[in-house]
Order: sequence, then structure tokens, then C-alpha cells
Amino acid sequence: KKLIIINGPNLNLLGKREPNVYGSLTFTEFFETIKEKYPNIQLEHYQSNVEGELIDKLQEVGFSYDGIILNAAAYTHTSVGIGDAVKAIETPVVEVHISNTYSREKFRHKSFISPNARGVILGFGLQSYELALQSFI
Ligand code: DQA
Repeated sequence: KKLIIINGPNLNLLGKREPNVYGSLTFTEFFETIKEKYPNIQLEHYQSNVEGELIDKLQEVGFSYDGIILNAAAYTHTSVGIGDAVKAIETPVVEVHISNTYSREKFRHKSFISPNARGVILGFGLQSYELALQSFI
């Protein structure tokens, strides 16, 4: 199986960004352990702070990969374009959030991704990504 984790803006700062909310592990550290744990999965990771680059990546992988694990971060709540891309592609998308966005500010309760996602996993810290991965196997 070929899967990709796509991370949106500011998630390159995991480990040093609001560790009380997002934890103290860097994404690279987490990604390495997950790759070792699931050696039979072809797992890739892409991160961008740029909305259009996230759309480009969704289009690039969205007709050939078996699954996309998408944390669009702040763009989740604002981006019609990323929402449309998720709808346009064929590869199923599981939406992921590290924090429980529903226990936070109201502006985080809206998602442009969810209506077209296969499912949504949020609030379990970095483990949310692993649960999303398991949903594809
Ligand atoms: C996030 C939640 C978003 O509201 C926030 O803008 C992020 C990270 C999460 O993983 O908890 O950047 O997607």
C-alpha cells in the first residue's frame, strides 16, 4: 500500500510549537518510528506552508496512491480550494488533527475537508496519524 501524510502550515514546527497543545516530539522523529512500525506500507510525508502547494500535492498523488492522511492545519478552517481538491481526487482522504479542534476556539469547529473526507480522526495527539494509517490497512 502506498500512503502519504500531507501536513499543512506550521506543522513543520511540531516539537517547538505550543508543546502543551501539540506535544514535544518533532514530526520527523514521529515519522521515523511509524515507518519502522509499519515496514510493509510505503509511507511518504509532505509538508508545506503554502495553500497552492498543498493543492498541487493532492492533485499529484490523488489519482494513484491508496490513501492520503491530511492535516491541513489552519487551512482546514478556511480553504475552499483544498476542500475542492479533496473532492476532485479519487484517492480517499482521512482528515487528521492532533488536537481536539472542537474543544478549542469556535473558528476551529468548521472544516472544509470533512464533507469530502472518508473519515476524521482528531484529538489523540500524534497518535491520530497512526489511527488514520490503520484505517487504510
Ligand atoms: C491542527 C488544528 C488546527 O486548528 C490548527 O490550525 C493547526 C493544527 C491540529 O492538528 O490540531 O495548525 O490541525
